[in-house]
Order: sequence, then C-alpha cells, then structure tokens
Amino acid sequence: MSTTDAAMGTTLVTGGAGFIGANLVRRLLTSGHRVRVLDLLVTGSRDYLAGLDVDFVEGDIRDREVVAGALKGIDRVVHLAASGSVIASIEDPAANFSTNVDGTFAVLDETRRAGIERLVFSSTGGALMGNTPPPVNEQSLPKPISPYGASKSVGEAYLHAYAVSYGMRTVATRFANVYGPYSGHKAGAITVFFKALHSGEPIVIYGTGSDSSRDYLYVEDLCAGIEAGLTADVPGGSVYHLATGVGTTVKELVEACCRVAGKPDHPIEYRPYRRGEVERNFATYDLAKAELGFTPTVDLDEGLARTWDWYLQHVL
Ligand SMILES: NC(=O)c1ccc[n+]([C@@H]2O[C@H](COP(=O)([O-])OP(=O)(O)OC[C@H]3O[C@@H](n4cnc5c(N)ncnc54)[C@H](O)[C@@H]3O)[C@@H](O)[C@H]2O)c1
Repeated sequence: MSTTDAAMGTTLVTGGAGFIGANLVRRLLTSGHRVRVLDLLVTGSRDYLAGLDVDFVEGDIRDREVVAGALKGIDRVVHLAASGSVIASIEDPAANFSTNVDGTFAVLDETRRAGIERLVFSSTGGALMGNTPPPVNEQSLPKPISPYGASKSVGEAYLHAYAVSYGMRTVATRFANVYGPYSGHKAGAITVFFKALHSGEPIVIYGTGSDSSRDYLYVEDLCAGIEAGLTADVPGGSVYHLATGVGTTVKELVEACCRVAGKPDHPIEYRPYRRGEVERNFATYDLAKAELGFTPTVDLDEGLARTWDWYLQHVL
C-alpha cells in the first residue's frame, strides 16, 4: 500500500457500476483511494469496471446485512445507487420509493451504525427544484414535481437530520443533467440523440425545443465536485449544486449533438411535452465554488465531442 492509499483510505461507492459510478471510481482510484463498489447491476454493468483494482460486492442497498457487510473497513461513502428515471417514477412510484427512499435510509443508517462520518449523497437539481424561476440556489425551496424528485428530497432531509442528531458529516450534492462516457444504458436525451444520429432515425424533441432549457454538466466535472464533497472540511448537512449555471435549450443541445457528429442537417421530429419533465433547471453553484472549490472546466461542445467518441467506440 502506498502512502497516498493509506491517507485516502477505502471509499464505498454504491451504484459504482452505473454511469456516474464508472467515472467516479476511476477518478477516486487515480486520487489514491481504495474503492469498494456495492451494486445490484440493475442498470449498471460490471464491464464498466473491467480491469480496475476494485472490490466488487453484488447486492441490494435495501438489504441491511449486505450493506453492513459492504461497509466493513470503509472510511467514506458515496451513495449513488438509485432508480434514476423520472418517467419510471411516475409510472411506478412505489418501486421508486423502495429503491430511493428505503435504500437510501438503509445506506445512511448502516453508515451511522458503522461509525463512518462522511457520506456524500447524489441528489438532483432539476427534479427536486421543479420549475422554480432562476436563480435557483441551495436556499431555494424544494418543490419536487415527480416521485423521483420527492425521493431525493427525502434523502436530503435524512442526511441533514443525521448530521444534527448524530454528528455525521453528510453532504448532499445536487447534480445537473450529467453526460459523458459509460452512459450507453441511459435513456437521457444525449444518449437518445446520439443513437438517432448514428442510425439515421429522426431526432425526437418533446415540446417546441426552445421553451425549455437544462443545465448539462460533463461527468468529469461532476466527479471532481463529488470527490471534493468527500474530502473538503465542510459542515455536516451541507447541500451543494454541482451544475454549470448555463441553460441550454433542447434545440441548442440537438444542434450541438449534430455538430459534433458531423451531421448538421439530421432530421428532427416534434412531439407533445411529457408530464414530470422539467422546463428550466439551471442552477447557480456559488456555494459549491466557495466551499468545495468546484468549477466546471469542460464546455458543452468539448464534453459532447468526448462523449460522441466514446459512443462510437463502445455503443454505436
Ligand atoms: N445522470 C444524471 O444526470 C443524474 C442527475 C441527477 C442525479 N443523478 C443521480 O446520480 C446517481 C447515479 O446515477 P447514474 O446516472 O449513474 O444512474 P445509473 O442507473 O447508471 O446508476 C445507478 C446504479 O445503481 C445501481 N442500483 C440500482 N438499484 C440498486 C439497488 N437496489 N441496490 C444496489 N444498486 C442498485 C444500478 O445497477 C446502477 O449501477 C443516482 O442516484 C441518480 O439519481 C443522476
């Protein structure tokens, strides 16, 4: 074991075989953390972690025994495992509650019981804040507009309560719309657009494409923010927005995807707006900048170009 390994200790990443997990695990290993992953492989894949020096536990975050076992010898926790789909949460709110509320409570409570101080939770900006008019920041009142958003709000509330009641150093990080490599299994806009660009099918836009805008954050920038949440000297119960502060309309996003794929004239089809989807969700990240040193460094065209390259090699 190197001195750096000893200093960083071992970090448990729940959901570490998913999109964000696969990127975060790589970053933590590079920074000298030893890493254990707990994942049920619902949406994630062990292939995403192939060749990495990671201790892998296949299991369910709702199973207390499994979680307690996975926490043995752990110094810090990043809790990413969740059902991440807004649409699926509207179709089956009970299933979403089970994974995201019961599961998050089990991970948090077992972390407390194991005497581990630091837990970073993957919350959400858009789904939790609803269509709050900008500027949206950590002081804005959460108004979830989907069961998924409500589940993340509950998680944040428990993190805050556990910080005050038990002195835990819990940190909630609210992600913008994250994109990047290892996201081939996701149903997010960029994955769908890239697949359409490759197959020749029209790109589908729900609504007009110009009246809604979202904040797109490249996954490497996100992971830098999560890592800072694990190590920075911040008070328990903190909440940070990990976002760019830049709103991109769907139409602008489609144009950027077409640009990086070298297909500027690709056909576009317009369909009606879907319930539960956020219309505006860009957030300021001033607090994350001040307390975590978080600043996004990869702009949309650069991030999309890197993602397109990964898709060409691994998905398309
Ligand atoms: N991707 C985004 O834009 C975004 C935005 C806001 C918040 N988030 C949050 O970030 C986290 C990671 O999202 P992602 O995009 O990597 O999604 P993902 O689906 O790729 O990863 C989630 C992982 O959790 C695992 N998992 C699901 N249920 C589990 C269970 N019961 N027990 C153990 N493992 C389980 C899955 O197998 C998967 O590997 C989620 O909490 C999500 O809500 C993501």
